[in-house]
Amino acid sequence: MDKLVIEGGKKLHGEVPVSGAKNAALPLIAATLLAPGVHILHNVPDLRDTRTMLKLMGQLGVQSRWDGAVVTVDTTHLHHGEAPYELVKTMRASVLVLGPLAARLGAARVSLPGGCAIGARPIELHIKGLEQLGARCCLENGYVDVTTTKRLQGAEICLTVPSVTATENLVMAAVLAEGTTVLKNAAKEPEITNLVDMLLGMGAHIEGRESDVLTVHGVSRLRPADCRIIPDRIEAGTYLLAIAATGGEGRITHCNPGHLAALLEKLRATGLVIEESEDSVTIKQPAAAKGLRSVDITTRPYPGYPTDLQAQFMALMTLANEESTIKETIFENRFMHVPELQRLGAMIRIEGNTAFVTGTTGLAGAKVMATDLRASSSLVIAGLAARGRTEISRIYHLERGYEYLVEKFSGLGAVIWKEKE
Ligand code: EPU
Repeated sequence: MDKLVIEGGKKLHGEVPVSGAKNAALPLIAATLLAPGVHILHNVPDLRDTRTMLKLMGQLGVQSRWDGAVVTVDTTHLHHGEAPYELVKTMRASVLVLGPLAARLGAARVSLPGGCAIGARPIELHIKGLEQLGARCCLENGYVDVTTTKRLQGAEICLTVPSVTATENLVMAAVLAEGTTVLKNAAKEPEITNLVDMLLGMGAHIEGRESDVLTVHGVSRLRPADCRIIPDRIEAGTYLLAIAATGGEGRITHCNPGHLAALLEKLRATGLVIEESEDSVTIKQPAAAKGLRSVDITTRPYPGYPTDLQAQFMALMTLANEESTIKETIFENRFMHVPELQRLGAMIRIEGNTAFVTGTTGLAGAKVMATDLRASSSLVIAGLAARGRTEISRIYHLERGYEYLVEKFSGLGAVIWKEKE
């Protein structure tokens, strides 16, 4: 196992390009199951999770090939198969094959993911929605088995929570169903719009793009896709917050600033100067160095402040001038980073789903442990800002979601490297 070592306290400077979005790449790879033939996906990030998804596709007879950031996926020889526990436990997004397999093959078998480091994360909305589309879902031996005797049938489905992957699964199932499906209270994250655009390009009929009501008129077949993955807004936000936390200045390129609006508003409120162009964001320190203002956040579905940038914003707030309140409303257990940040000297108190962060004048390096993907990136930010050496163990979490992390931070002047534990 590798650990990440950081000699902190250096201001980050320069430019960093953003990779394709993990959480868009995963559903888009799954969506290739919907049409036989050769699909081409551009701007795919080379991550542990995208590799896992392609491995899972391989078990279903799907062949894939990487050529830089372009992945060619051949679904011609798709056959029945399952997403086994060994894969699903390392990547919950494996559940995204349920919808497309039910629609195309009339059968899917996926291990139930179980709980994880950030909460219970049930998938009953995926299952209930598929049942409303006419599938039979059966839970046995830790697996969910989805079967259909005939083509899925359009239905009206209302999600009680705007779940991102449930929306993706159900849209993918509905595009090949007979008749019209209306999906209400759908999530409208940019990654879903990326998926909708891919499906439209494949010949699907979907209305309500970017809204919380998606109307899908089923078609009997789709053609292979040629589609580009959107930039990773969470990766972009992580680099912005890291530059800010070290007191540095820099530019994030190849991104979509519109997808980062909630974060940019909060960064501006801290006093940082943020300039946007069509595909980049520049971050600068305020003219008179007054220190960072404490700013409160509450996580919400898009376009609200993203839960996937909560831990990283908290790392920044440990260095602000007063107290900030950080409220997590999406996941019930997403404060695993707090005790680790405290090891670096952060002053944080938790009450229920709210963390109260009192700014300090500086953090000091320590040995810490990564617990999940975004918790890990908050520790990287804190470690970069802290004086002295920080060692982060269990960095396989980071490898799930950040492409070329060491190289990108090194390019910004950070002293950071991987070592065997
Ligand atoms: N929920 C239910 N029942 C369901 C599904 C979800 O109660 O059947 C609840 C969840 O427990 C949670 C809330 O709904 O409280 C929202 O969860 P959602 O289903 O939207 O999360 P997800 O689809 O499993 C995706 C991202 C996560 C991101 C969340 C929220 C992917 C592959 N994953 O997960 O990304 O945090 O949406 O935006 O898109 C990450 O990248 O680090 C990550 C965890």
